[in-house]
Amino acid sequence: MYRTHTCGELRRADVGKTVQLAGWVHKVRTHGSLTFLDVRDRYGLTQVTLAADLGEKASSLRKESVVSIEGTVTAKPEANKALATGEIEVAATNFSVLNESDVIPISLDDDANTSDEMRLKYRYLDLRKSTMKDNLVFRHELAQAFREALNREHFLEIETPLLIRSTPEGARDFLVPSRLNKGHFYSLPQSPQLYKQLLMVSGMDRYYQLAKCLRDEDLRADRQPEFTQIDLEMSFVQADDVMSLLERVMTHVLKTTKQIDLATPLRRISYAESMEKYGIDRPDLRFGLELVDVTELLKKTDMNVFKEAPMIKALVAPKVFSRKEIDALTDVVKVYGAKGLAYATFQEGTFTGGVSKFLEPIVSDLQRATAVENGQTIFFVADTWKTTNDALAHLRLHLGKELGLIDPRQLSFCWVVDFPLFEWDEEEKRFSPMHHIFSMPQEKTMQYIETEPARVLGDLYDLVLNGTELGGGGIRIHRQDIQERVLAVIGMDSSAAQNKFGFLLESFKYGAPPHGGFAFGFDRVAALLSGQEDIRDFIAFPKNKQMQSPLDDSPNAVEKDQLDELHINVQK
Ligand code: AMO
Ligand code: AMP
Repeated sequence: MYRTHTCGELRRADVGKTVQLAGWVHKVRTHGSLTFLDVRDRYGLTQVTLAADLGEKASSLRKESVVSIEGTVTAKPEANKALATGEIEVAATNFSVLNESDVIPISLDDDANTSDEMRLKYRYLDLRKSTMKDNLVFRHELAQAFREALNREHFLEIETPLLIRSTPEGARDFLVPSRLNKGHFYSLPQSPQLYKQLLMVSGMDRYYQLAKCLRDEDLRADRQPEFTQIDLEMSFVQADDVMSLLERVMTHVLKTTKQIDLATPLRRISYAESMEKYGIDRPDLRFGLELVDVTELLKKTDMNVFKEAPMIKALVAPKVFSRKEIDALTDVVKVYGAKGLAYATFQEGTFTGGVSKFLEPIVSDLQRATAVENGQTIFFVADTWKTTNDALAHLRLHLGKELGLIDPRQLSFCWVVDFPLFEWDEEEKRFSPMHHIFSMPQEKTMQYIETEPARVLGDLYDLVLNGTELGGGGIRIHRQDIQERVLAVIGMDSSAAQNKFGFLLESFKYGAPPHGGFAFGFDRVAALLSGQEDIRDFIAFPKNKQMQSPLDDSPNAVEKDQLDELHINVQK
């Protein structure tokens, strides 16, 4: 037997017991004739005291060696309040080294400045840190809470395959060559989308899965090539049914994991309003600084950049900025494609500095439109609809953080609804689906599918938390005739559609029920509910920004034999 108790378990009531502990050497120090050893495991830390030769043996031990201790629980003369086991210590009567550690290559202090590369290379050590351990424990608790909530609502947990035909989620697929079928490839799923729809055709009624999704796309702090969705689908539902189910699920999850009472129904904001006020389709509603469209007003001025721009929007910030600060803010908007950042300060009822002289003819109109007050600054970006919104949305977020307008403890949820079904792809010069091609057009806009596709709204909903998209979903098309009309808009003819997902279209012929669903980005849910942004800290073994794993050094070159077997030639 290695242990009778964990290192986080012993309390004052255990004083006098003979116990055995096992764990890692967290810290060793010697005071006079006594050696103090902090032994750590997943559950906590216990102080062990060793005297005479036991102490001598322990004092030379390297940190992170694995030990086992037998001893008697004694009351500590002075309790260590910072530690759950702080009222006791274990006086060792026996002590053995189960595995001596080498000097470890990274620091396990939570605030150590270890490079990402080293942390990922020695991930198994990095995960010994209490912050990382806590993250994985929280992720586990979250997963269980989601399962509980969904099980209670009669969902079935069903697995779907990893080796599949490509799913059209919009990112690039990872391909897997087939050895037995020369020149043929599987795709790894970008999501279980098509399979969960097939499960509805099968009559499973309510499905969920903690599903691995694989997307070969550019990475950011909130994106990994391999991530997890809490993916679900339901039959005989409309958008409101799915959203209220998801609100019940979130209520349970927040209550059990964070003791937070979620106020439902959650606020709903249309895509159009979100774009207008926040310049982005995942608004951070923890603070104001709303954008104002001033295109018509500013066109009246004599400034060339304003006269020619398709769209001009303003943002009012509650302070006066120095020249240097304005330059830094200009750099922020330039990252998002803006050509500049015009500004003026409002003082004593009029504009000064920046572009103020051009604003003279419209002072009172502009003041009314933007509600700018004395001691505030007004910023303008003039550009295309996309660039103006992009640039000011990010300026808004930047200022929200810089000016301390965001309460980091606040959780601000909202639904974004009424998304357009199609978006215009400027590069390809055609419409592409905003979410995916299986999304149902809203009944009231169905009439525009052929004539004005840009006016068609989808039966779509995204769940947004503090400016991050936690998840998205929609009601699906379950009828072949509507599916064909939608595919025609994006320029996919029926033979291309048959080739890509003919099996799904065929299934719709045999009694497909109306259905819809949703998928949470589980890694994002875990990070955000912990008040953090980097999802890698909530994934046991993530990839780096180059999509490599420094831990096992993948992706790696393989033997020629292996390639031959797969009928693959690698180009030099
Ligand atoms: P979507 O593509 O919006 O929808 O994905 C759902 C959620 O998954 C998360 N997510 C990611 N998280 C980490 N790394 C990534 N690379 C990544 N990409 C997406 C986001 C996102 O909101 N099949 C549909 C869902 C449906 O319609 O039911 C889908 O996959 O939080
Ligand atoms: P310029 O005339 O280029 O010197 O610019 C005068 C001011 O207008 C500077 O503060 C620029 O940052 C700003 N500016 C230039 N182009 C734009 C634009 N497209 N939108 C908003 N401000 C701009």
